[in-house]
Amino acid sequence: MNMEFPDLNTPVAHSASWSCPSNIALVKYWGKKPEGIQWPANASISWSLGDLRARTRLVLLESQSAESSLECYLSGERKPSFEPKIRDFLARVSADGSCPESLRASLVSGAWRIDSSNNFPHGTGIASSAAGFGALALCLVDIAVAMGSDVSNPMELASRWARLGSGSACRSVYADPAIWGLHPAVAASSDDFAVPFHARIHPDLAEWKDYVLIVDAGEKSVSSTQGHALLKANPYAEARYAQAQEHLGDLLTAMQNGEVSRFMDIVESEALQLHAMMMASTPSFILMRPGTLAIIEKIRAYREQSGASVCFTLDAGANVHLLFASVDENRVVNNLLPSLLPHCQDNQYLCSNLNSGPEPLNHE
Ligand code: PMV
Repeated sequence: MNMEFPDLNTPVAHSASWSCPSNIALVKYWGKKPEGIQWPANASISWSLGDLRARTRLVLLESQSAESSLECYLSGERKPSFEPKIRDFLARVSADGSCPESLRASLVSGAWRIDSSNNFPHGTGIASSAAGFGALALCLVDIAVAMGSDVSNPMELASRWARLGSGSACRSVYADPAIWGLHPAVAASSDDFAVPFHARIHPDLAEWKDYVLIVDAGEKSVSSTQGHALLKANPYAEARYAQAQEHLGDLLTAMQNGEVSRFMDIVESEALQLHAMMMASTPSFILMRPGTLAIIEKIRAYREQSGASVCFTLDAGANVHLLFASVDENRVVNNLLPSLLPHCQDNQYLCSNLNSGPEPLNHE
């Protein structure tokens, strides 16, 4: 990947590079608390999409001026359209109580360059913001440390800062399942950052895979910012938040005890509730396509008939995440997948492991 900026003639003061995976929620974050910045209305848990990653290099130039400057690149190509969102993100980090003074000063007056790329193809409808903000936050923490700040828990700080870019991004900085949002069953849980779920996970739920079935490669018809906001006037919102809290507690128990069918029931219910909330909002949105439903029905019928550990989840779009135990991969690939691909745009799907985390990159 090209990690060089086309016009980098000025000396570099600090530079950091990270690769960070996207993640897929098993219990969904959908709705924000009225207070706080991107505090979730309920706790959520995700698996890391270890093979679907952003690679990001962040550079602070030596030149200083009264105002900060920012240039964003995607795979070496300047993308001015990304800059307002990144500018807002950097402003939020600098305003957060956790931001060290030296970094804050540079965020306010420094010249910043960011080059990012994704290892999954564009035009697959896969959101890249979780991986992108995760990688960017990890780079910022590295630079804060290089400036001399004493950071006791770099991953927690990166998670906190990633949240300020995109809520779900805070779950991307761990290889372990990541829990974000206050929950009575998780002592260390917080609305500010995600924490890794360190408990011993039963072997039947420790090694799973995700095939993302690309039903619709287009842009999402509703952004997650709009989606979260629709919950404010949704009459079912409070019931949904309570249900998510209950689901999270039950899912953690199922993961530790190896209750695979309970796990699959909760994961599928969470996916359908996310979509039900969109259908029950005003205005309403139907994000599934006919292919989404056809795939769901085939997954359920195959599970019934084969007894394989296989289920689905959905993001806020039409694509289906086919989740299955690695031990069942051969039979799922040979006996189920071929019947699902005709519902995918150009037969496209992406494969990922679910248990690898971010990695620092050496670019110099
Ligand atoms: O991080 P956001 O604001 O893009 O919200 C993402 C919400 C879902 O992906 C639909 C669910 C989740 O928990 O990741």
